[in-house]
Amino acid sequence: MAVLLTGGAGYIGSHTAVELISDGRSIVIADNFSNSSPGVIDRIEKITGRRPKVYDIDVCSPEALEKVFSENEIDSVVHFAGFKAVGESVAKPLMYYENNLYATINLLKTMKRHGTRRIVFSSSATVYGNPKTVPIREDADRYCTNPYGWTKYMSEQILTDAANADPELSVVLLRYFNPIGAHKSGLIGDDPSGIPNNLLPYITQVAVGRREFLGVFGNDYNTHDGTGVRDYIHVVDLAKGHLKAIDYAMNNSGVLAVNLGTGIGYSVLDIVKAFESATGLHIPYRIQQRRSGDIDACFADPAAALEKLGWKASLGIEEMCASAWNWQKNNPYGYGEKK
Ligand code: UD1
Repeated sequence: MAVLLTGGAGYIGSHTAVELISDGRSIVIADNFSNSSPGVIDRIEKITGRRPKVYDIDVCSPEALEKVFSENEIDSVVHFAGFKAVGESVAKPLMYYENNLYATINLLKTMKRHGTRRIVFSSSATVYGNPKTVPIREDADRYCTNPYGWTKYMSEQILTDAANADPELSVVLLRYFNPIGAHKSGLIGDDPSGIPNNLLPYITQVAVGRREFLGVFGNDYNTHDGTGVRDYIHVVDLAKGHLKAIDYAMNNSGVLAVNLGTGIGYSVLDIVKAFESATGLHIPYRIQQRRSGDIDACFADPAAALEKLGWKASLGIEEMCASAWNWQKNNPYGYGEKK
């Protein structure tokens, strides 16, 4: 029996692969490496001593996915694969809807044919849009501000409807807050293509000398220092949450939506300071215009994850920053190769 990880070579997928293998579980990765590097697989092997079985396929291809399910006994799926750049989704909405929604549908159809009944979905706090109150509980209103977010929202709906129609299906929707950091080995980490959109990869690229300074997007938000507040969570804690979600899905049917966050909000300037103190480096920054679509504050109420999954984040901001730097310093250009 194996766990299929779609998008298992990506940032969160690769960290989850390591945790699953280290826990003695069998995994199969399906990834088309459109936004990840084949070299990730060597790194997973180096960390764990085991090389996962890998299919270089598009999850949207019915034939290719059928082959994965017919050649392996897949008892659960963690679905990470998908396009994830907010700005690009605004420019190319149809590409996002087609890819992200069809991957979910194709996966569910193939799972049904093969009697695979458990799926953990990589969702995002982006489904809460601009929250009315923080911390955010899972039953808060949901609304998205860009097509990427809507693909997460709609995939959640597709999965929910599929579970409502099939009492044997078990769905766990994991709503990630802001994953940062890297595995302690420094062998795997976040490696965005082009100019990073997210805060931490931008900071580590400034630290390593690839960029001159950090642009801080606005200092007039309604927060303690005027810069945006988010719930940053160590990617290894996040990865461990997936193991708990798979176990939950083994023992329960129906749909469960769970926030994976720490419950603590840090501002952009808090993060700059935390990074400087964890690494001893100086990060020059300049205050710039707000980025369109950004919100004041977003952080989780993580109580449901503890109650339902028995999961709680354990790594603090210092370890998040130190591990992000350890990865970037050892791999100044990331994996250095992409398809
Ligand atoms: C972003 C996405 C969100 C996605 C998440 C994945 C947007 C609007 N939202 O969330 O949909 O699920 O990433 O991790 O892109 N910041 C700077 N300078 C930078 C980069 C970021 O000041 O160069 C600030 C932002 O204004 C924000 C904070 O840092 O206040 C975090 O930004 P980011 O890492 O992009 O995450 P989110 O915007 O929360």
